[in-house]
Amino acid sequence: MLAAAATLLALGAFSAQAATADDLARRLEPVGKVCVQGQACTGAVTESGASARAPDDVIANHCTACHSVGLLNAPKIGDAADWGKRAQEQGGLDGLLAKAITGVNAMPPKGACGDCSDDELKGAIEKMSGLK
Ligand code: HEC
Repeated sequence: MLAAAATLLALGAFSAQAATADDLARRLEPVGKVCVQGQACTGAVTESGASARAPDDVIANHCTACHSVGLLNAPKIGDAADWGKRAQEQGGLDGLLAKAITGVNAMPPKGACGDCSDDELKGAIEKMSGLK
């Protein structure tokens, strides 16, 4: 029980730090262009949402860390049964989106993707869950 709590705390600290580093990197970038150090810069990404990031990009950069292996009980990518049960509990895809935005238990708000738009989050959830 204590060990689990410590893990949650450590994880929380980690995502808070990541969000801060992201914010910093963003402030240093010219408006409309977001590049992450150590990653190929696509150049096509805009903050305005005019060209939203593809679900695969959002998932790869912000969701897989927890959702690929089911870390801390996160529903696994492609686990239709788990996602379906959750969708039912939250009243469908929009309910899941609302939960993803506010965060729930070890799930950080917006999956710690501070600059993800609702549409980008929704696309990622659709893709991970297979729900429409
Ligand atoms: C730090 C780990 C972590 C990251 C990163 C993360 N999640 Fe999660 N997510 C979780 C955990 C843990 C749960 C299960 C929470 C629970 O039910 O206790 C979860 C649950 C969810 C749920 C279901 C909520 C519900 O009400 O059952 C959605 C939707 C979701 N995540 C979307 C996302 C999206 C989209 C991303 C990427 C933008 C993301 N998550 C990134 C850990 C994470």
